[in-house]
Amino acid sequence: MNIVLFGPPGSGKGTQAKMLAEKYRIPHISTGDILRDNLKRKTKLGLEAKSYMDKGELVPDDVLIGITKDRLSQSDCASGFLLDGYPRTLPQADALSKILNAMGKKLDVVLNIDVPDDELIKRLAGRRMCVCGASYQIVFNPPKQERICDLCGNTLYHRDDDKEEAIMNRLDVYKHQTQPLINYYTKEGMMLLTVNGAAGISEVFDEICRLLDNLKIGDS
Ligand code: AP5
Ligand code: MG
Repeated sequence: MNIVLFGPPGSGKGTQAKMLAEKYRIPHISTGDILRDNLKRKTKLGLEAKSYMDKGELVPDDVLIGITKDRLSQSDCASGFLLDGYPRTLPQADALSKILNAMGKKLDVVLNIDVPDDELIKRLAGRRMCVCGASYQIVFNPPKQERICDLCGNTLYHRDDDKEEAIMNRLDVYKHQTQPLINYYTKEGMMLLTVNGAAGISEVFDEICRLLDNLKIGDS
């Protein structure tokens, strides 16, 4: 299955993608995670991306297109992938279809997770992350022990772009640069399915699995 998980910041793309990747045995490709990993390792790419990410701006298209092209060419993507946070602009969507075409592949479905703005703001302001990749929400999905990761015991941190000013900018960027992709994919005749992402984490997961299972897509 070749899937794009689409939705505004805080809609639950990362949360759902981790569970879907495990269930359907396909790699979860989060461009945000790739950039944050580069930032942690202080690579040239990470240091370049930091100023955009901290403000909630998009990192330039050519950088993201290169990252995605490299990642999709790796062998674990041979029987499917789950893209989270890419594409986010029209040039990125065009580039994706060219990359896949050149590999003799195509997208099977774009899953759009829909959540109202007030809920997104609450979720992001209360999100806490761990260096191991786990993500929590202080109200809806808290760790067992305050500020400590259930999985590895490290201290949780607040993402720099989860501060109020950056959250508002990310929502604005989403509306102007990313949301238009819904029309783009509709016009392209792509299978685009919208899920109510305001429900609880397991309800959203069950709904996505129901939709995917109904599509009966084989390995591609
Ligand atoms: P990225 O890391 O992709 O951030 P984002 O799209 O802004 O999305 P988030 O990761 O904030 O939210 P999410 O939808 O994954 O929600 P989550 O599951 O964590 O990108 C970061 C930055 O990198 C960008 O701003 C940009 O600078 C750069 N970048 C990345 N890709 C790029 C690209 N293609 N082009 C250019 N620049 C790019 O959930 C959020 C919280 O809610 C969590 O605390 C979670 O526990 C909780 N939660 C989840 N689901 C539910 C639920 N159903 N009910 C209650 N709480 C829930
Ligand atoms: Mg995410």
